[in-house]
Amino acid sequence: MDYALTPPKTLRGTLRVPSDRSITVRAALLASIAEGISRIRQPLDSDDTCAALQCMAELGAQAAPADGLRIAGLGLRGLRAPARPLDCRSSGTTMRLLAGFLAGQRFDATLDGSAQLRRRPMRRVTEPLRAMGAHIADADGHAPLSIRGLRTALKGITYDMPIASAQVKSALLLAGLYADGPVTIREPAPTRDHTERMLRAAGVELIAQADADGCATITILPPARPLQPLDLLAPADFSSAAFFLVAAAIAPGARIRLSEVGLNPTRTGLLDALRAMGAPITIADRRDEGGEPVGDLEAGHAGLRAVEVGGQLTARMIDEFPVFAVAATQATGVTVVRDAGELRVKESNRLEGFIGELRKLGARIEATADGFVVEGPTPLRGAVVDGLGDHRVAMALAVAGLVAEGRTIILGADCVAKTYPAFFRDLESLGGP
Ligand code: S3P
Repeated sequence: MDYALTPPKTLRGTLRVPSDRSITVRAALLASIAEGISRIRQPLDSDDTCAALQCMAELGAQAAPADGLRIAGLGLRGLRAPARPLDCRSSGTTMRLLAGFLAGQRFDATLDGSAQLRRRPMRRVTEPLRAMGAHIADADGHAPLSIRGLRTALKGITYDMPIASAQVKSALLLAGLYADGPVTIREPAPTRDHTERMLRAAGVELIAQADADGCATITILPPARPLQPLDLLAPADFSSAAFFLVAAAIAPGARIRLSEVGLNPTRTGLLDALRAMGAPITIADRRDEGGEPVGDLEAGHAGLRAVEVGGQLTARMIDEFPVFAVAATQATGVTVVRDAGELRVKESNRLEGFIGELRKLGARIEATADGFVVEGPTPLRGAVVDGLGDHRVAMALAVAGLVAEGRTIILGADCVAKTYPAFFRDLESLGGP
């Protein structure tokens, strides 16, 4: 599907964007090995979460629709050998977390996915899992991954992660449920901690330490008792709300309310960056939902100024750089992003491909070795651009189109279904006469 848009006169309204993908996928995995019935209210229903739920069903843990999802947990050792390779489709989170989750099981399993997923790096999980004693083979660092069942427990390890990655950390924490000793992971910058919060809610003991240099260390102890079932509400995904925060910031006259948004501080780097640029964003009714901070956001327009982003802030907004770059095109000055080399290995190469598409709209943006530089403000003009099969690229280009003169056509816009199937409908709902 291609999508054509022209700038609306105003952007006003309230949205509850779809629920958090990271939380929904983690809940599907953990609920299946808890003892008892878990309840996940407002789960995300998208391509990625369907892939995760389908994989869990192949492992014997069926999710039943009932005020969200109910999953009857099978206990730590209750999953069954899958009859065929598990199809993670294009979900990197599903594949990397399942790799850790399955590494300590007694049965064999193969993890595979789309051509896009097969291009993404997997050695970052297979290597430390092998150090824990897992029998896991990759295809030259990529999927398919073949896991051989173990007769013994995995070994506890201490692992210094060379890259900041919540998926790698989560894979090792999940493998830690099947280890004979503590698994300690040191990350170069704190990354999203949904897995840790959910494991604790299930009764697993974790020890967290923040080092003086800003690195984070987390240790999981082998579970002393069965995991308790989960009862949680998946909040609106901050990474989906991000598109509307930027849309409001750059579109004159805009005022958008976003309700029930997950505000886990490991995810909200874009909020800090946009505020530093001068965007007026307020948070109301801060509350806790199942161990995760949640609130309602109100976002409006302002003249933006350029900022520099690097280090820990980069890790806290790792999924938001395509839409952040759009904000930077409208900010006065030179915006610099550093420490973001990981953007090359997301659903697309978000440093090369995406930057090329944004330039077609007139943006003055250049890739650097580990990030990009944007000069602004730049008036954008409509053009034909490509979503590159990457949901966040397609949505960011649509946000750029909101302030571009004339018509913007996004080719392959249906890739938004990965995390936000109704994105274009929601966008249209804000563009009143
Ligand atoms: C995710 C972690 C991040 C993020 C991805 C989802 C997760 O990936 O980019 O969209 O759910 O743990 P990395 O672990 O590769 O940084």
